[in-house]
Amino acid sequence: MASLLVTGGAGFIGSNFVAHWTATRPGDRVTVLDLLTYAGNRANLDGLPAELVVGDIRDEALVTDLVQTRGIDTIVHFAAESHVDRSILGPDAFIDANVLGTHALLKVARKQWVDTGRPHRFHHVSTDEVYGTLGPNDPAFREDTPYAPNSPYSASKAASDHLVRAYHHTYGLNTTTSNCSNNYGPFHFPEKLIPLFIINALHGRHLPIYGDGMQVRDWLHVEDHCRGIAAVIDKGRPGETYNIGGGAELPNLTVIDTLCAAVDAAFAADPGLAARFPDAPAAKGQPTATLKSFVTDRPGHDRRYAIDCSKATAELGYHPQHSFESGFAQTLKWYLDHEGWWRGILDGSYMDWVKANYDKRAAAR
Ligand code: NAD
Ligand code: TYD
Repeated sequence: MASLLVTGGAGFIGSNFVAHWTATRPGDRVTVLDLLTYAGNRANLDGLPAELVVGDIRDEALVTDLVQTRGIDTIVHFAAESHVDRSILGPDAFIDANVLGTHALLKVARKQWVDTGRPHRFHHVSTDEVYGTLGPNDPAFREDTPYAPNSPYSASKAASDHLVRAYHHTYGLNTTTSNCSNNYGPFHFPEKLIPLFIINALHGRHLPIYGDGMQVRDWLHVEDHCRGIAAVIDKGRPGETYNIGGGAELPNLTVIDTLCAAVDAAFAADPGLAARFPDAPAAKGQPTATLKSFVTDRPGHDRRYAIDCSKATAELGYHPQHSFESGFAQTLKWYLDHEGWWRGILDGSYMDWVKANYDKRAAAR
């Protein structure tokens, strides 16, 4: 029986991972350490057999106590500031959480595990954004692609990846790192493209498309990501990194057009949606695509990300199981079925910040 400490487990991917792990390994003990920042949500863990400890990964005394009292042998590290737009407006929080936070965890792990000779694993969850940006014909990112982060967010994640690598090489900490592409799925915080646009479409608010909308991302369903992380923890070689992708490279405009068409189809199939969301264009028989609005581009916007996950396939047997079409349809249904979840977030002050930011961009155009 393993005892996991899942940092950031009340966020989007972390909570999906807790659901996946506890469903597939019911004998294991799972402790979540989460600061419940604006992106963390206690409700994401409702009904899951995991203990939530509210606290900061930078609190070394707290992490030490958790490792000792819960007999932790595996840390799965998700906790981070994760939104590129916020990192552009305020990089300090990203250095604090992503760089200093990861280092605090590594220090505790070294002391509690390496110094005592206890078997352990430190798995670090990172992003493909550390590799920078690709041209249209460049080969996809491999694990040996040089790091070239372009945003304060990706730079902070790159720094954390380097620290994890150094703790393996210098101190012998048993680490693995996974670098994945853009996730989507249930519990995705509505500041990111897909959930923001679903909720805006339901309210008849504009869909702010940065620049020309032809930036490419490789969309990974969060359940595939969680399966990939579990495979790395099970079979990954110590000190190695693994790329995890969704095999769904799409320009933003294609994602947005898919989303608009799916919302139209959902309203056509279920007349009850028009009563629930009367401000949606689809409630008035108009196409959701009328909400598309091109706004000022994100500064330093990376043009294309693409993942080569052949190493994870060859070594771990990893294959994404969701196509974007099926994964997106499931995600839209989840947002329509979980209005209470996202209403709870919209009622908080954070969405005022999101709205003000987009209005500023729209006005600047
Ligand atoms: P998220 O923003 O939804 O969740 C982050 C969680 O970390 C929140 O619950 C927050 O409360 C917690 N947290 C932040 N600072 C903390 C601190 N100092 N101490 C304890 N908890 C803290 O993020 P996500 O989208 O679930 O991303 C999880 C991880 O995956 C991150 O490391 C991110 O860099 C990485 N990642 C995400 C994506 C993506 O598409 N979302 C893609 C690649 C990699
Ligand atoms: P996002 O979900 O913020 O993820 P990331 O920046 O980590 O890739 O954005 C995905 C893509 O969508 C990215 O190219 C930026 C773009 N985008 C918009 O065009 N409008 C928006 O309002 C948002 C949030 C993102």
